[in-house]
Amino acid sequence: MSTGFKFTPKMLGIICNWCCYGGADLAGVSRFQYPPYIKLIRVMCSGRVDMEHVFRAFSKGADGVFVGGCHLNDCHYITNGNYDAYGMVQLCKKLMEHIGINPNRLRIEWVSAGEGIRFANIMNEFSVEIEKLGPLGKSEGIDENALKSKLEAVTNLVPYIRLVERERLRVPFRSEEEYQKFFTSDEFNRLFEETIAEKLSISQIVSLLREGPLTTGEIAKVLGLTPSEVSRHLNSSSRQRFVRYDEGLKCYALA
Ligand code: FES
Repeated sequence: MSTGFKFTPKMLGIICNWCCYGGADLAGVSRFQYPPYIKLIRVMCSGRVDMEHVFRAFSKGADGVFVGGCHLNDCHYITNGNYDAYGMVQLCKKLMEHIGINPNRLRIEWVSAGEGIRFANIMNEFSVEIEKLGPLGKSEGIDENALKSKLEAVTNLVPYIRLVERERLRVPFRSEEEYQKFFTSDEFNRLFEETIAEKLSISQIVSLLREGPLTTGEIAKVLGLTPSEVSRHLNSSSRQRFVRYDEGLKCYALA
């Protein structure tokens, strides 16, 4: 029996002023339809979109986030900010995957000011995908508190991740091929594991313990890690004096 409940997603689009916004405007003027629940924010260049904006949007309840810019090599700034946006989105997707959120909830596309129909088509396609995925967290099997703490853990780590991105994860050539090659390479996965994965797990543990003391098993269950992985992170966090073992409660708490 149908419950009659229809899921209406909350979706945010952060789009550049010079091209993608022009495309959105043209879609409106041309009366090309797309769902009204997609809220748009205009920025001067897609390169201004930061991973903190993306995770803040998810923390505030967005089920899907769209980043739109000028076509690659058509950015209106000499820094070619859309390549930075592309790299930022690939890294965000990897972070989402790591904390158990479907990375398809984040999408980046290029739309020129003359492509109103393309803008509307992308919005329609993306909204159908998010409707199919369902509410953020629920469809990933993550309860509300765990979702909050996972997103908080990533957000707290953003300043560090920005540094790593600048120092270790920059692609030297501004070419679509080079970017695609790098972000799908074993080298990228290796660098992510080496520089970010462990810190992110520790950040998640610290966020969880803010809610109260937990056993290794309880932490492992929420984070989807094995107890031995959690023990390794707890040992490392204890050495750095982030957490401590409470002998009385027989569980871990913040130091
Ligand atoms: Fe549009 Fe840079 S100005 S992406």
